[in-house]
Amino acid sequence: MTNGKLPNLRIPGPVPLPDDVLEIVGSQMINHRGPEYADMLDRMTANLRTVFMTTNDVYFITASGTGAMETAVVNTISPGDKVLAISVGVFGERFREIAEAYGADVTKLEFELGHAADPEKVRETLKGMDDCKAVLFTHNESSTGVANPLEELCKVIHEESDALILVDAVSSAGGMAIAVDAWGIDVVATASQKSWIAPPGIAMVTFSKKAWEAYERSTTPKYYYDIQQYEDYLKIGQPPFTPCLPAMYAIEKSLESMVAEGIETVFERHHAVAEHTRDGARSLGLELLPDEKYASNTVTAIKLPDDIDGKEFLSRVRTEFNVILGGGQKSLTGKIFRIGHMGWVETAHIDEALEAAGRTLRVMRG
Ligand SMILES: Cc1ncc(COP(=O)(O)O)c(C=O)c1O
Repeated sequence: MTNGKLPNLRIPGPVPLPDDVLEIVGSQMINHRGPEYADMLDRMTANLRTVFMTTNDVYFITASGTGAMETAVVNTISPGDKVLAISVGVFGERFREIAEAYGADVTKLEFELGHAADPEKVRETLKGMDDCKAVLFTHNESSTGVANPLEELCKVIHEESDALILVDAVSSAGGMAIAVDAWGIDVVATASQKSWIAPPGIAMVTFSKKAWEAYERSTTPKYYYDIQQYEDYLKIGQPPFTPCLPAMYAIEKSLESMVAEGIETVFERHHAVAEHTRDGARSLGLELLPDEKYASNTVTAIKLPDDIDGKEFLSRVRTEFNVILGGGQKSLTGKIFRIGHMGWVETAHIDEALEAAGRTLRVMRG
């Protein structure tokens, strides 16, 4: 179940890596300006488009997920641009902060923790905004286990505005469906350490024609994340800067496996393991933080009973059962715990985590 005696790592990324991926990650370095890299990049680009159901441009950037979010912002937004930042938790706030840091004129729309963004509230807000240039939001809010209704949100945004749609899909892409072309998403940001079964180090973005038009107008200073550099180098089969090769090797393998398995099957598998996790949590007498309708298929957030010290709970589960669960973040610290189930995950991993949680709760309650 776990590799040897290693812990059962059930945080919402980095995800554990199976032995065959670990072996690839330990492969020898290659010349990132040579033909092997060019071939690998070519295959990866084609397969990433398949997963995102898009003909848009896609790029691999050596960075964490936040780098992908920053790439979305610096290339499409100019200082003073009116932007709507929708937030349902920690990562929505981060997206907003990035836009603010680069001088956007940000309108905030926040929803209570554990709730999803309401498309009708988004509609109302857009109606009240003049010339909104971009709408930024998280697809899957890892801090609360909430999956926003992405397709519906995109529909409303398109109905009410010409704004670009920039989506943080760091913890959903690869595990949950994102139909970039059909839903009209301009930039999607994700990262290797989540459903892609790879180590941290590579950010991935999609970039639409409309995003490129915005790029041409954008006056935001940029260098490392300037998407034009990635495009120019892609044409010669190279990265602009030295890439995180071990993560690239692993993503190449994951993408190949996902495409071979069929992306619908991959998404259904994530859905099934998420249902298994939710059912298991309920059978321990626990309550989910989000409404079932918006519960994420990659991470489950579960409320801790009031009489339980969250820090002690996580520590006991780790030291007594060798299971690493995610805690709550910011105001949810000590109030919830989270089980990650993206990428390489089997029901046995979840059963072990739930068993550890249940037994710890029983012991702590005496
Ligand atoms: C939804 C979401 N957005 C953004 C990030 C930030 O990614 P990173 O820590 O790789 O910068 C995370 C990381 O957990 C995330 O879950």
